[in-house]
Amino acid sequence: MKTIRLFDQFDRVHDYLRISLTEKCNLRCSYCMPEEGVALTHKTQLMTREEINGLAGIFTGLGVKKIRVTGGEPLVRKDIGGILDDLSQLPVELTLTTNAVLVDRFIDTLKNAGIRSLNISLDTLKRDKFRTLAKRDDFNRVRSNIDLLLAAGFHVKINVVVIKAVNTDEILDFVAWSDSAPVHIRFIEFMPFDGNQWAWEKIYAYSEILEQISGRFAIEKLKDHRHATAKAYRVKGAAGTFAVISSMTHHFCNSCNRLRLTADGKLKNCLFSKEETDLLSPYRSGEDIKPLIIDTLRKKAYKHGGIDAPDQLADPLHSGRSMIRIGG
Ligand code: 5AD
Ligand code: SF4
Repeated sequence: MKTIRLFDQFDRVHDYLRISLTEKCNLRCSYCMPEEGVALTHKTQLMTREEINGLAGIFTGLGVKKIRVTGGEPLVRKDIGGILDDLSQLPVELTLTTNAVLVDRFIDTLKNAGIRSLNISLDTLKRDKFRTLAKRDDFNRVRSNIDLLLAAGFHVKINVVVIKAVNTDEILDFVAWSDSAPVHIRFIEFMPFDGNQWAWEKIYAYSEILEQISGRFAIEKLKDHRHATAKAYRVKGAAGTFAVISSMTHHFCNSCNRLRLTADGKLKNCLFSKEETDLLSPYRSGEDIKPLIIDTLRKKAYKHGGIDAPDQLADPLHSGRSMIRIGG
């Protein structure tokens, strides 16, 4: 049988699907969740466990090899155990992005679902600052849960959204952590989404991050994976690594292999795409949704959802979705 693969107009194969399980989160990070909150989508419009599994199965039938479960915060979903169990039966590498607040309750669930690697969002190593940024006093739980994951042998990546005058003074502390522990720090340039008070002046660029680090540490470049969004480095002799995700100053769209399914079952061909394709309604009425997936991918722009100017990306009218409703 001929293997089916999803290609876009630019010959990029798309074999990585990110599925958002919920628009809810137990933290309130301002770069993701608008201050006024978001209008919650009615439960009947969100994918059920069975629908998530059914839709994911269609994507794997189209050649998807990797699925990342995201949110909101995926671990707040009551049926998360069952969802991960279902997805683990599919022929995919399964991963998860979480804020780690609830991770201690799920170590076995994660292991049993064959998850080996997790992305943890953590933007500061200081308890007070965490409380200010995330508006919840959960730093100690997050920090001890990361240690639990490391002790259990998981590959742990730490996502740090770098914002000028917010956490640029902690870059060296994060790198020092990767020097002494097997954690993989990823500094992410601040990206504009609806309601997140983005401004070009708040960006601390890849070049600045690297300059700061190389002023203190002896570092070496590591080889990047073909579809990697991160440029990886290591302090010489370190236990872990660090990397920069330069979404704003050096886009990596040329090797993009990602598709996104929102919690309400809409397919986005790019993080920044304005258009989205409703898969859930036609799936519910028993239609064949494969042509819709193929067509959505065919319309994928080369870069950043077809937008050139970063300020235009920040325009709420552009995506109309905050990060919490897209799903990192
Ligand atoms: N800019 C950059 N990264 C972001 N994330 C969420 N919002 C933004 C933003 N505005 C990242 C978080 C999370 C991942 C899913 O996306 O670090 O870990
Ligand atoms: Fe892919 Fe869009 Fe992100 Fe570029 S901006 S890497 S095209 S998801």
